[in-house]
Amino acid sequence: GDISNREEKQRVADQVAGKVKDKDVIGIGSGSTAFLALQAIAERVNKEGLDVKGIPTSKEAEINCAVLGLATTTLIDSRPDWGFDGADEVDGDRRLIKGRGGAMLREKLVMASAEKTYILADKSKMVERLGEKFAVPIEVDARAIHLVETGLGNLSSVKRVEMRMAEKKDGPVITEGGNIILDVTFEDIPADAESTLKAMPGVVETGLFTGYPVEILTV
Ligand code: A5P
Repeated sequence: GDISNREEKQRVADQVAGKVKDKDVIGIGSGSTAFLALQAIAERVNKEGLDVKGIPTSKEAEINCAVLGLATTTLIDSRPDWGFDGADEVDGDRRLIKGRGGAMLREKLVMASAEKTYILADKSKMVERLGEKFAVPIEVDARAIHLVETGLGNLSSVKRVEMRMAEKKDGPVITEGGNIILDVTFEDIPADAESTLKAMPGVVETGLFTGYPVEILTV
Protein backbone atom coordinates (compact mmCIF):
# COMPACT_ATOMS: atom_id res chain seq x y z
CA GLY A 1 0.00 0.00 0.00
CA ASP A 2 0.87 3.67 0.18
CA ILE A 3 2.70 3.60 3.50
CA SER A 4 5.06 0.73 2.69
CA ASN A 5 5.75 2.38 -0.67
CA ARG A 6 6.72 5.55 1.16
CA GLU A 7 9.05 3.54 3.37
CA GLU A 8 10.63 1.89 0.33
CA LYS A 9 11.10 5.27 -1.34
CA GLN A 10 12.79 6.53 1.81
CA ARG A 11 15.06 3.49 1.93
CA VAL A 12 16.24 4.12 -1.64
CA ALA A 13 16.63 7.85 -0.92
CA ASP A 14 18.91 6.98 2.00
CA GLN A 15 20.81 4.56 -0.24
CA VAL A 16 21.49 7.42 -2.69
CA ALA A 17 22.54 9.73 0.15
CA GLY A 18 25.00 7.02 1.23
CA LYS A 19 26.86 7.42 -2.08
CA VAL A 20 27.76 11.07 -1.42
CA LYS A 21 31.48 11.80 -0.98
CA ASP A 22 33.22 15.02 0.01
CA LYS A 23 33.82 17.34 -3.02
CA ASP A 24 31.14 15.64 -5.13
CA VAL A 25 29.15 17.60 -7.68
CA ILE A 26 25.78 15.89 -8.01
CA GLY A 27 23.02 16.17 -10.60
CA ILE A 28 19.79 16.86 -8.72
CA GLY A 29 16.68 15.33 -10.28
CA SER A 30 13.10 16.57 -10.30
CA GLY A 31 9.86 15.05 -9.04
CA SER A 32 8.64 13.61 -5.76
CA THR A 33 10.94 10.57 -5.59
CA ALA A 34 14.05 12.60 -6.40
CA PHE A 35 12.99 15.09 -3.72
CA LEU A 36 13.28 12.40 -1.02
CA ALA A 37 16.84 11.66 -2.15
CA LEU A 38 17.69 15.37 -2.20
CA GLN A 39 16.36 15.71 1.35
CA ALA A 40 18.47 12.79 2.55
CA ILE A 41 21.56 14.15 0.78
CA ALA A 42 21.12 17.68 2.15
CA GLU A 43 20.72 16.28 5.66
CA ARG A 44 23.94 14.26 5.38
CA VAL A 45 25.91 17.08 3.78
CA ASN A 46 24.87 19.56 6.46
CA LYS A 47 25.36 17.15 9.36
CA GLU A 48 28.82 16.04 8.21
CA GLY A 49 29.85 19.46 6.88
CA LEU A 50 30.70 18.03 3.45
CA ASP A 51 31.75 20.19 0.52
CA VAL A 52 29.11 19.11 -2.00
CA LYS A 53 27.38 21.02 -4.78
CA GLY A 54 24.24 20.17 -6.70
CA ILE A 55 23.41 20.85 -10.33
CA PRO A 56 19.61 21.15 -10.38
CA THR A 57 17.63 19.78 -13.34
CA SER A 58 14.74 22.23 -12.93
CA LYS A 59 13.58 25.42 -11.26
CA GLU A 60 11.75 23.18 -8.82
CA ALA A 61 14.98 21.36 -7.91
CA GLU A 62 16.78 24.70 -7.70
CA ILE A 63 14.28 26.00 -5.15
CA ASN A 64 14.42 22.74 -3.19
CA CYS A 65 18.22 22.97 -3.00
CA ALA A 66 17.95 26.54 -1.70
CA VAL A 67 15.33 25.59 0.90
CA LEU A 68 17.32 22.56 2.08
CA GLY A 69 20.59 24.50 2.16
CA LEU A 70 22.45 22.55 -0.51
CA ALA A 71 24.90 24.68 -2.51
CA THR A 72 24.41 24.64 -6.26
CA THR A 73 26.44 25.21 -9.39
CA THR A 74 25.69 25.00 -13.11
CA LEU A 75 26.77 22.91 -16.07
CA ILE A 76 28.63 25.97 -17.33
CA ASP A 77 30.91 26.00 -14.27
CA SER A 78 31.10 22.32 -13.46
CA ARG A 79 30.29 18.75 -14.44
CA PRO A 80 28.36 16.38 -12.23
CA ASP A 81 30.36 13.41 -10.88
CA TRP A 82 27.09 11.55 -10.74
CA GLY A 83 23.41 12.30 -10.49
CA PHE A 84 20.00 10.97 -9.57
CA ASP A 85 16.53 11.48 -11.01
CA GLY A 86 13.10 9.93 -11.29
CA ALA A 87 11.35 8.63 -14.40
CA ASP A 88 7.85 8.17 -15.72
CA GLU A 89 8.54 4.81 -17.42
CA VAL A 90 11.48 2.40 -17.35
CA ASP A 91 11.76 -0.68 -19.59
CA GLY A 92 13.88 -3.83 -19.31
CA ASP A 93 16.66 -2.26 -21.41
CA ARG A 94 16.95 0.74 -19.05
CA ARG A 95 15.25 3.00 -21.55
CA LEU A 96 13.27 5.80 -19.96
CA ILE A 97 10.41 8.15 -20.66
CA LYS A 98 10.73 11.36 -18.68
CA GLY A 99 9.17 14.77 -18.81
CA ARG A 100 5.91 14.58 -16.92
CA GLY A 101 7.36 17.55 -15.06
CA GLY A 102 8.26 19.21 -18.35
CA ALA A 103 11.93 19.50 -17.39
CA MET A 104 13.39 16.95 -19.83
CA LEU A 105 15.73 19.42 -21.52
CA ARG A 106 17.65 20.25 -18.37
CA GLU A 107 17.27 16.68 -17.09
CA LYS A 108 18.84 15.30 -20.26
CA LEU A 109 21.67 17.85 -20.26
CA VAL A 110 22.58 16.91 -16.71
CA MET A 111 22.24 13.16 -17.35
CA ALA A 112 24.35 13.37 -20.52
CA SER A 113 27.04 15.21 -18.55
CA ALA A 114 27.28 12.66 -15.74
CA GLU A 115 29.17 9.39 -15.78
CA LYS A 116 26.36 7.75 -13.89
CA THR A 117 22.79 8.60 -12.98
CA TYR A 118 20.75 6.65 -10.47
CA ILE A 119 17.11 6.41 -11.51
CA LEU A 120 14.73 6.08 -8.60
CA ALA A 121 11.66 4.30 -9.87
CA ASP A 122 8.86 2.66 -7.97
CA LYS A 123 7.39 -0.55 -9.38
CA SER A 124 4.56 1.32 -11.10
CA LYS A 125 7.16 2.86 -13.44
CA MET A 126 8.49 -0.46 -14.74
CA VAL A 127 6.96 -1.41 -18.10
CA GLU A 128 7.28 -4.25 -20.59
CA ARG A 129 6.94 -1.93 -23.55
CA LEU A 130 8.10 1.68 -23.44
CA GLY A 131 5.14 3.95 -24.10
CA GLU A 132 2.71 1.56 -22.46
CA LYS A 133 1.34 4.18 -20.08
CA PHE A 134 2.92 7.46 -21.11
CA ALA A 135 3.13 9.47 -24.28
CA VAL A 136 6.55 10.72 -25.35
CA PRO A 137 6.69 14.42 -24.50
CA ILE A 138 8.54 16.70 -26.86
CA GLU A 139 9.49 20.28 -26.12
CA VAL A 140 8.81 22.48 -29.13
CA ASP A 141 9.50 26.10 -29.95
CA ALA A 142 5.99 27.59 -30.28
CA ARG A 143 6.87 29.06 -33.66
CA ALA A 144 7.39 25.55 -35.00
CA ILE A 145 4.10 24.13 -33.78
CA HIS A 146 2.47 23.74 -37.20
CA LEU A 147 5.69 22.52 -38.76
CA VAL A 148 6.16 19.87 -36.09
CA GLU A 149 2.52 18.82 -36.07
CA THR A 150 2.71 18.31 -39.84
CA GLY A 151 5.96 16.37 -39.45
CA LEU A 152 4.45 14.14 -36.78
CA GLY A 153 1.36 13.60 -38.94
CA ASN A 154 3.62 12.15 -41.63
CA LEU A 155 4.97 9.47 -39.28
CA SER A 156 2.95 6.27 -39.54
CA SER A 157 4.04 5.21 -36.03
CA VAL A 158 2.38 8.24 -34.42
CA LYS A 159 -1.12 7.61 -33.15
CA ARG A 160 -1.99 10.86 -31.36
CA VAL A 161 -0.50 14.27 -30.65
CA GLU A 162 -1.76 16.45 -27.83
CA MET A 163 -0.57 19.86 -26.74
CA ARG A 164 -0.04 19.76 -23.00
CA MET A 165 -2.40 22.21 -21.34
CA ALA A 166 -1.93 23.87 -17.95
CA GLU A 167 -4.22 22.64 -15.22
CA LYS A 168 -4.66 25.63 -13.01
CA LYS A 169 -4.49 28.38 -15.58
CA ASP A 170 -5.79 28.79 -19.11
CA GLY A 171 -3.58 27.87 -22.03
CA PRO A 172 -0.70 25.53 -22.72
CA VAL A 173 2.09 24.51 -20.35
CA ILE A 174 5.06 26.79 -20.97
CA THR A 175 8.42 25.22 -20.15
CA GLU A 176 11.30 26.91 -18.35
CA GLY A 177 12.75 27.55 -21.80
CA GLY A 178 9.56 29.30 -22.90
CA ASN A 179 8.51 26.44 -25.18
CA ILE A 180 5.41 24.26 -25.40
CA ILE A 181 5.08 20.51 -24.96
CA LEU A 182 3.48 18.06 -27.35
CA ASP A 183 2.62 14.66 -25.88
CA VAL A 184 3.13 12.15 -28.69
CA THR A 185 1.51 8.73 -28.45
CA PHE A 186 3.13 6.08 -30.65
CA GLU A 187 1.66 2.81 -31.84
CA ASP A 188 5.07 1.35 -30.99
CA ILE A 189 8.01 3.66 -30.32
CA PRO A 190 10.39 3.07 -33.26
CA ALA A 191 14.06 2.47 -32.44
CA ASP A 192 14.99 5.65 -34.33
CA ALA A 193 12.25 7.81 -32.75
CA GLU A 194 14.71 10.05 -30.93
CA SER A 195 16.70 10.93 -34.04
CA THR A 196 13.57 11.31 -36.17
CA LEU A 197 12.01 13.73 -33.69
CA LYS A 198 15.23 15.66 -33.12
CA ALA A 199 15.66 16.09 -36.88
CA MET A 200 12.53 18.28 -37.01
CA PRO A 201 13.39 21.98 -36.81
CA GLY A 202 11.84 23.42 -33.67
CA VAL A 203 11.97 20.22 -31.60
CA VAL A 204 14.15 21.28 -28.69
CA GLU A 205 14.19 18.02 -26.73
CA THR A 206 12.33 14.77 -26.26
CA GLY A 207 11.43 12.78 -23.16
CA LEU A 208 13.04 9.63 -24.56
CA PHE A 209 16.18 8.79 -22.58
CA THR A 210 18.00 5.86 -24.18
CA GLY A 211 21.61 4.83 -24.05
CA TYR A 212 22.60 6.85 -21.01
CA PRO A 213 24.68 5.33 -18.20
CA VAL A 214 21.86 4.84 -15.73
CA GLU A 215 21.45 2.45 -12.83
CA ILE A 216 17.88 1.73 -11.88
CA LEU A 217 17.15 1.71 -8.16
CA THR A 218 13.72 0.15 -7.80
CA VAL A 219 11.67 1.57 -5.00
C1 A5P B 1 10.27 15.32 -14.57
O1 A5P B 1 10.29 15.92 -15.81
C2 A5P B 1 10.04 13.82 -14.70
O2 A5P B 1 10.88 13.29 -15.66
C3 A5P B 1 10.20 13.15 -13.35
O3 A5P B 1 11.46 12.56 -13.27
C4 A5P B 1 9.12 12.15 -13.19
O4 A5P B 1 7.87 12.76 -13.44
C5 A5P B 1 9.15 11.44 -11.84
O5 A5P B 1 8.41 12.08 -10.85
P1 A5P B 1 7.89 11.29 -9.55
O6 A5P B 1 9.11 10.81 -8.83
O7 A5P B 1 7.13 12.33 -8.78
O8 A5P B 1 7.03 10.18 -10.03
